[in-house]
Amino acid sequence: MTLAITKTTSTAVPAVVGADLRVPLVTGERVTYANLDHAASAPCLQEVRDAVDELLPWYASVHRGAGFASQVSTRVYEQARDRIRRFIGAHSSDAVVFTRNTTDSLNLLARSVPKNTAVVLFDSEHHAALLPWRGPNVQRIPAPSSSGAAVVALDRALAAAPVGPRLVIVTGASNVTGELWPVAELAKVARRHGARIALDAAQLAPHRPVNARELGVDYVAFSGHKIYAPFGAGVLVGRADWLQQAQPYLVGGGATSKVTDHGDRLGVAWSAVPERHEAGSPNVVGVHALAAACEILSRHWEQTVAHEQELLTRLREGLRTIPGFRELSILTDVDKVGVVSFTVSGFDAGFLAAALSAEYGIGVRDGAFCAHVIVGRLVKQVGSHEDRAVRASIGLGTTVEHVDRLVAALRTLVTEGPKWTYTQRDGRWVPEDDGRTLPPFLA
Ligand SMILES: Cc1ncc(COP(=O)(O)O)c(C=O)c1O
Repeated sequence: MTLAITKTTSTAVPAVVGADLRVPLVTGERVTYANLDHAASAPCLQEVRDAVDELLPWYASVHRGAGFASQVSTRVYEQARDRIRRFIGAHSSDAVVFTRNTTDSLNLLARSVPKNTAVVLFDSEHHAALLPWRGPNVQRIPAPSSSGAAVVALDRALAAAPVGPRLVIVTGASNVTGELWPVAELAKVARRHGARIALDAAQLAPHRPVNARELGVDYVAFSGHKIYAPFGAGVLVGRADWLQQAQPYLVGGGATSKVTDHGDRLGVAWSAVPERHEAGSPNVVGVHALAAACEILSRHWEQTVAHEQELLTRLREGLRTIPGFRELSILTDVDKVGVVSFTVSGFDAGFLAAALSAEYGIGVRDGAFCAHVIVGRLVKQVGSHEDRAVRASIGLGTTVEHVDRLVAALRTLVTEGPKWTYTQRDGRWVPEDDGRTLPPFLA
């Protein structure tokens, strides 16, 4: 997963929709929005929007119509499977199941594993990867502090796992710290113990090339909305056998090849994968957008990585000059994608996020980032009494000005205090007398 990073200018990366978005401040001014929340949901790529526009006149039912537009939509939907396979270097025999998002994909996998599968994962996983796996067959390994320790811990856990099917779940990049997990090394360990391995690529796929075959992973899950294609599609790619044997967890039209009436019961023949797990009318627009985003990113990896790393370095260097700033970290010896979570001593994360938005037009995330276990531990390690942090995350829409604005705004907030008054309402910090108006289409 290493990539030579070449020096490029920020303008070389694909453009995003909304780059010039103007947002109101509590003071009544308007500024260009500094979106530093790409890890939550990334803006749409301009070229993805173009691809969607191109499809929309042809939009029609998928798998259900004889009309020409239906045939076009069906072709778009089915071709997207190969486009995604190519993007992540999957085997031609791998199933590509379209879902709503990574959460859906990992829940589908959890419902598909054979009974009594021993599941091993680190407790630093996002809830989407952590919560579907609970019960006596699940081993949660405390988050290690280095990539070497991760490999040793997994080896030990698998050596102790019961005989039978085994599955390891691992994230490619942490949504809390952006740190890159040693996926290829963990996959080797898994293989040695006869275990399969599933990669949660929600945070990795938008930022680095992922090649399932080179990494040696059996399943890959990621989300369209994090990879600049926010049209409601996600995907699970991987070995077909378990998925083929599993009962669909969402049932309905499309997942069945034949339903027969036996009076007191219905006889149902489930379709083969992938349709077996795609009940209901498919999201062809989302899937087309997802495939388009994958192809666009594939053409721009060098610029994308260089752009993000340049900004990440600038952001971290700037933040380190803020009094009381403490960055959260799990693995201390790895590279990271553009995600920085931090606390500032003496300041509530929710207050900082609210003030950054209200006074500076900056969007960051605050809280425990759907990873309560690890965030709770990391904030304690940096001496915070809260169980929350602030997360700034970089993507293709980020500029030098956004990064510099965040650093300058935080410095002002921390050294001079806010220029507005804030109050807590329903557990959230909000500005008092917030006169910011919503855009006209919401009025
Ligand atoms: C590492 C990771 N895994 C899984 C998810 C879940 O993704 P989604 O909300 O698109 O299902 C996220 C979302 O933040 C994530 O960061």
